[in-house]
Amino acid sequence: MLFKLPLLQCVPMTQATNDLMEKIVSLCKRRGFIFQSSEIYGGLAGAWDYGPLGCELKRNVKNAWWKAVVHERDDVAGLDAGILMNPMVWKASGHTDNFIDVLVDCRKCKGRFRKDHVGDKCPNCGAKDFTEGRAFNLMFKTQVGAVEDEKGTVYLRPETAQGIFVNFQNVIDATSRKLPFGIAQIGKSFRNEVTPGNFIFRTREFEQMEIEYFCRPEEADEAYRRWIDERFNWYLNLGIKKENLKIRPHAADELAHYAKGCSDIEYKFPFGWSELEGIANRTDYDLKQHAQFSGKDLQYQDPVTSEKFYPHVIEPSGGCDRGLLAFLADAYHEEEVEGKTRVVLKLSPQLSPVKAAVLPLLKNRPEIVEMAKGIKKDLQKHFVCVYNDTAAIGKLYRRQDEVGTMYCVTVDVDSLTDRQVTVRDRDTMKQERISVDQLKNYLLERLA
Ligand code: GAP
Repeated sequence: MLFKLPLLQCVPMTQATNDLMEKIVSLCKRRGFIFQSSEIYGGLAGAWDYGPLGCELKRNVKNAWWKAVVHERDDVAGLDAGILMNPMVWKASGHTDNFIDVLVDCRKCKGRFRKDHVGDKCPNCGAKDFTEGRAFNLMFKTQVGAVEDEKGTVYLRPETAQGIFVNFQNVIDATSRKLPFGIAQIGKSFRNEVTPGNFIFRTREFEQMEIEYFCRPEEADEAYRRWIDERFNWYLNLGIKKENLKIRPHAADELAHYAKGCSDIEYKFPFGWSELEGIANRTDYDLKQHAQFSGKDLQYQDPVTSEKFYPHVIEPSGGCDRGLLAFLADAYHEEEVEGKTRVVLKLSPQLSPVKAAVLPLLKNRPEIVEMAKGIKKDLQKHFVCVYNDTAAIGKLYRRQDEVGTMYCVTVDVDSLTDRQVTVRDRDTMKQERISVDQLKNYLLERLA
């Protein structure tokens, strides 16, 4: 593959890592984070659906990213380009000709593999008899228009980045941005991966969170270093443990021919250290390619000196689904409490899908139920909040812990007269009596 290789440098699977992955997959299904795609028809390899809690969590990941890279900065603007684009985009970017894996077939067991993944022995049967390698383009093809012919062939984008490059001039014209500045985009990308796997780590349809940061050529090295730090710290600030993150600079022979540098932020997944996000110095390659193929002048003109040149580009490119898997794996926690195992998702307050659960101590007391539902209605104007009365309080607490709910608010008989409720903290399990009038502010302060 001409582009960056998806890494498969996994550490050997131990029973413990296997178990953790199984526990996460099982929790995701059981509690409505992630389901197998079209499961009732037997599923589809490499495809997954996000359930009620999963789509909240994913939305929170995307919001946290957008807040950090667009809203809290002065030098990045947002974009939402289409998935379908003029096929010339992919000719210019190199994807039509070079976005390929080389595949080989084992002549004995007929298994098909990526050549760079097999070594000299078939991973299935051990035979050493492979066919010649054949190039396989990873882009999904589809048709536009009613007539099915070559002219109507378009591709599902394999990365969001090219939508940014082809809109570079539009964004400058519309916003009068001056260098250095970036354009950020979140969106679906599609790759016909030969070996999807490890749950949502490698799939054929996934979401990317990408920035193209345009700067003067002489500023590029410094911007590259800064973005590596900023993106690394973003994961730390959202609660990932430092010992589970590392930066891996690419060796010279791993770099695409146009790239001056590339570093991966890697996470220690249960199946081994693997890429979470890549930060690349792409030089002026993409803008020059699009200028050449489109015939348009995509140079930047300095508004003061009128000097014209192609900006260089730093690209922090992360996967939303991969990030979400890392946040889940890092947050998964088991502990012994009163002789029983308590499972807690210690997600950061920003990411937790549910911020508070309001629980009536006695569901057969209509005044308590009414009060609890009223409190939930007030709180849900400010953050995601649920009401639940489907089990005894101990079980309800455990269920909320397991999905990472930050606070449980319990309404009991005394609440009816003293207008106070019990607030339980997910991580410490400490309980405090709080007046209903103070509740919203109490929670907002702690969720900030
Ligand atoms: N524009 C540069 C680019 O697309 P990439 O390393 O191929 O670079 C960037 O992809 C990120 O997208 C990866 O770090 C990963 O998080 C995510 N990603 C790539 N392929 C993926 C797949 N098949 N499934 C899930 N996420 C994927």
